[in-house]
Amino acid sequence: MPDHFAINGTVLPADQAKVSVLDLGFLRGVGAFESMPTYGGHPHALGEHLARLWQSAAAFGIAPFFSERDVRRCIREIHRLSGHPELRVMIVVTPGEHTHGVFGHGAPTWVVIARDIHAPSAEAYAKGVSAVTFEAARNLPTLKTTNYLSGTAGLALAEKTGAHEAFYVSPEGYVSEGVTSNVLVIQGRRLMTPNQDCLPGITKAGVRIVAVELGLQWYECRLTRDDLYTADEVWITSAVREILPVVRVDDHQIADGKVGRWATSVRAAYRERCFAESLRDAQAEVDAHV
Ligand SMILES: Cc1ncc(COP(=O)(O)O)c(C=O)c1O
Repeated sequence: MPDHFAINGTVLPADQAKVSVLDLGFLRGVGAFESMPTYGGHPHALGEHLARLWQSAAAFGIAPFFSERDVRRCIREIHRLSGHPELRVMIVVTPGEHTHGVFGHGAPTWVVIARDIHAPSAEAYAKGVSAVTFEAARNLPTLKTTNYLSGTAGLALAEKTGAHEAFYVSPEGYVSEGVTSNVLVIQGRRLMTPNQDCLPGITKAGVRIVAVELGLQWYECRLTRDDLYTADEVWITSAVREILPVVRVDDHQIADGKVGRWATSVRAAYRERCFAESLRDAQAEVDAHV
């Protein structure tokens, strides 16, 4: 079945879902977005993702102008029309069409793009992936804007070396996050992650809860490349990838080069939680509107 997307709340076949060339998202690169998977066809942590979307959109003066209910309706319709069991959902907000001056605009634009999930392969989770580091800083790192320009050099390096992800390293030598993910390391029972110059990941917050329940200790601290190279385990987290183990960073094998025990057990518990939360939230919406 053809993909369907929603433009300003109207679901259309993908080839009819168009945004104006005058949109400031296109003309000036001004935009915010969120990305999340469905579990059982229901979006996960939609409330948290929308809260972060509005924080990011506030940076360019856009206040909330659609509801969680509006988004759920679009996702439900797209899910039914697409026939995909699970979706990768992107919600994008821009200021809308340019009208005057540099940033003058009319009504903002919002788009829901929901396609086949395309999660990493079972092999990637079983064997782990590799990552590289690169020196750069992300613009507005605590916000999720559509501007990923600062990451292009890192991802080009990753592609050249067959790596899955590239980690930002500051001029002072601190690793902040991946181009499209957060980074966490395990040393003994300590699960450590940077808390500066990075996106406050929604996955990371959920992983924290299950990891602590399973006996890991949570630390938010600065990390260097050496902390990664000498870790027992390195993980990346993002909504669609959940927890993806990294077994090589630059030229360094991590521990014995195999996926560590915590990655597998924490991810299993995390997935279970995601299914339960997604179903609970979908049911809560039904209950609220009967
Ligand atoms: C720069 C960056 N950091 C971290 C993340 C992970 O965030 P989340 O767990 O909320 O998906 C993402 C996700 O796309 C990202 O783009």
